[in-house]
Amino acid sequence: MTKNYDLVVIGGGPAGYAAALYGSAAGLKVAIIEENKIGGTCLHVGCIPAKELLETASVLRSVRQAKDFGIETSQEPVVNLSISQNRKQTIIDQLFTGLNSLLAGREVTIYSGTGLLGPDRKIEIQQNGETEIIQGTNVLLATGSTPRTIQGFEIDGKTVMTSDEFLSIEEIPDRVAVIGGGAIGCEFASLLNDLGSSVTLLESLDEILPGCDKDVSTAVRRSFIKKGIDIQTGVQVEGHEGDTEKTTVSWSDKGEANQREVDLVVVAVGRKPNGHTAGLQDTEVVVDEKGFIEVDEKLRTKEQGVWAAGDVINTPQLAHVGFAEGIFVVKEILEESPVEIDPSTVPWCIYCDPEVAFAGLTEESAKAAGYKVTISKHRYSGNGRAMIIGETEGLVKVVAEADESGKAGRILGVHMAGPLVTEQLGQAYLAVNLEATVDEVANHIQAHPTLSELFGETVMSLTGRSLHG
Ligand code: NAI
Repeated sequence: MTKNYDLVVIGGGPAGYAAALYGSAAGLKVAIIEENKIGGTCLHVGCIPAKELLETASVLRSVRQAKDFGIETSQEPVVNLSISQNRKQTIIDQLFTGLNSLLAGREVTIYSGTGLLGPDRKIEIQQNGETEIIQGTNVLLATGSTPRTIQGFEIDGKTVMTSDEFLSIEEIPDRVAVIGGGAIGCEFASLLNDLGSSVTLLESLDEILPGCDKDVSTAVRRSFIKKGIDIQTGVQVEGHEGDTEKTTVSWSDKGEANQREVDLVVVAVGRKPNGHTAGLQDTEVVVDEKGFIEVDEKLRTKEQGVWAAGDVINTPQLAHVGFAEGIFVVKEILEESPVEIDPSTVPWCIYCDPEVAFAGLTEESAKAAGYKVTISKHRYSGNGRAMIIGETEGLVKVVAEADESGKAGRILGVHMAGPLVTEQLGQAYLAVNLEATVDEVANHIQAHPTLSELFGETVMSLTGRSLHG
């Protein structure tokens, strides 16, 4: 007899496991199907391993700075990458075990195998030549994404890698070309530079970090250049020639040919959605030409009772957006009329050095959306806590709606580059999403001495008065 569930989730990454955990917490009978490992890209080859390696780089920077604090170290610090890789794996393993026991504790049935959706929300699960069919009253497609590659750069795992391979490197390469100056490219360029590699960052657009506010991407670019990263923007990467030890990458810059010999090429040019991996034969589910599963504002596909969430739909490809979408779908199933997720106000955190964090509209996108805006920018160089920790680069920029007289009102966006901004974004995110005005936020107290004071200061100056400029 076919087993029936209130909710069957295909894909065990952040969107899928959030839906499974939240759905089972709400009393739904849930099954989750995963062909690889529960936890998905984020846990195994994405957010968690990347941030762990970036933490190694951060500790290394602190040790290098130790003498400024009067701490003498007898020799130059040396990185033992295998210890960092083991530490990374330990963290992944702990989170993986925790996640599996959470799912088991909530009586979520985990199926190992590939789930293929057919008509009537029946799913065929295939593994090792065996098949089983289950059925869901509701089905969530959360099949995620995989790294995109570009022509001429076959991934060999030796001299050409994507994030999948790079996050397990055992040696620090001497010379690296990173293709793509988005979130992944900038995190990897920053990491490799800290670890001692000579890094060339190749980006086809005119600026790194597309989607970020211009002041933020400029601040990161300046810091990167100061650290010695060679940033080449507006270039067309053409190919490479070499062997499994080293290779020469070619690109053109406004018609001028360039080449560089490197030991490693990391391709970070975006991720493609896995729209076609869950069967979908004889269903009404539509996959667009880019591979995204089409959904409406309530994350419903065209097939009755079938939803999609996470990287496989065309919303920001972020783990926390996946979590939110998984929870949203469960609330929809429970007919709780959840608040729709606005992709333009989700939080973004990028863990390069300096870190980047933002929520809401950039100055440019606010103007393009028809808002009259006023902005304020404050730099960490004047912030006491930033001086204490020895990290004074970067800024906070607040974009607010202006009335006819130019007076600032609602906060439309907050953009940060600098020390630990990924941990400072919370209140800025709430301000944007609660549609707070600058006066409302300025009425609140920022603890002293904190890095977050800079956000308070930036908002306060938009009220027309400020303390420190
Ligand atoms: P991305 O879309 O953020 O950036 C890719 C970059 O590559 C773009 O700047 C693009 O212009 C450039 N590019 C594309 N083709 C190129 C070519 N042929 N030559 C040179 N440059 C080229 O994608 P990314 O960085 O790979 O990240 C994938 C997804 O994962 C994104 O949605 C990203 O936001 C998300 N992510 C977020 C992180 C975070 O928030 N901390 C960390 C890692 C990934």
